[in-house]
Amino acid sequence: MTVVVFGSVTWDVAAFADRLPKPGETLLGKNYITGLGGKGANQAAAAVKLGAPTKFFGRIGDDQFGQDVIAAFDKLNLDSSGVLIDPEVATALGVILVDANGENAIIQAAGANRRIDETDVVRASQALEGAKALLLQFEIPLEITLSAARAGRKAGATVILDPAPAPSDGIAGSVLMAVDIITPNEVEAETYVGFRPYDKKTGIAAAVRLVDIGAPSAIVTMGANGTAWATAGGESGFQPAFRVDAIDTVGAGDCFNGALAVALTEGLALPAAIRFASVAAAISTTRSGAANSAATREEVDRLLDFNC
Ligand code: RIB
Repeated sequence: MTVVVFGSVTWDVAAFADRLPKPGETLLGKNYITGLGGKGANQAAAAVKLGAPTKFFGRIGDDQFGQDVIAAFDKLNLDSSGVLIDPEVATALGVILVDANGENAIIQAAGANRRIDETDVVRASQALEGAKALLLQFEIPLEITLSAARAGRKAGATVILDPAPAPSDGIAGSVLMAVDIITPNEVEAETYVGFRPYDKKTGIAAAVRLVDIGAPSAIVTMGANGTAWATAGGESGFQPAFRVDAIDTVGAGDCFNGALAVALTEGLALPAAIRFASVAAAISTTRSGAANSAATREEVDRLLDFNC
């Protein structure tokens, strides 16, 4: 496998309304969709749609949503042999609300994702041998994410961590030092660095701060406000966002991570890989859904050519 993804998978239910409800309020929405989700599965879907041999390791329950997850993997031609059926718990559910601007609020009812343990890291270790990139997130127990990161490093893979959702007590230096690249969005970056980045200057400042506290490289995604990055080698930069008609931003960060891994495994340098991933993420916002909205290789190449 070129790309290994270790972590969360959900069945998502997304409801669309003009705006997000206030606490205690019932809103009449427009429509809803269901589909494959979870930051890990979304990253894997993005990588496989871009053509990288990809394997995902995670857990589902022995239930209808679990069967729906496997069917969705099959439809994507994504290898599901690393998905363990855990009979003790339900498949995790993503409950998503999307407003008229494509912005969202998400609750992930963790289910089987919370049950991932050291045995799953052992299951993944064979696939990690020879893998060029390992993608991780924070929707499974933190200590297991850390263990997987160490296994990925040991196997020689580039370890990319999307530190989302952000734990309320921040992120430990030991976690930052166990990965190669960290990719928070602006909301997560605020938890980690104490201010919310919103443009080139504040984005680079946030990325530099993450490097200062231990990350070898940091990429801060800010949606339509672009992406800033910094490395421990003292380099930094900014990628403006690609302008598209966004209708649903769910999974855009996951698509960014999957595409980043693919670009890096193909030998692109970090700034070019970030440009490639920004295009993929922008395309994913032009349609509804999480894993299903990921960009194809052809779409990314076309938009890159157009913006040459
Ligand atoms: O990043 C988007 C994902 O977050 C959704 O698919 C949802 O399941 C949550 O995990």
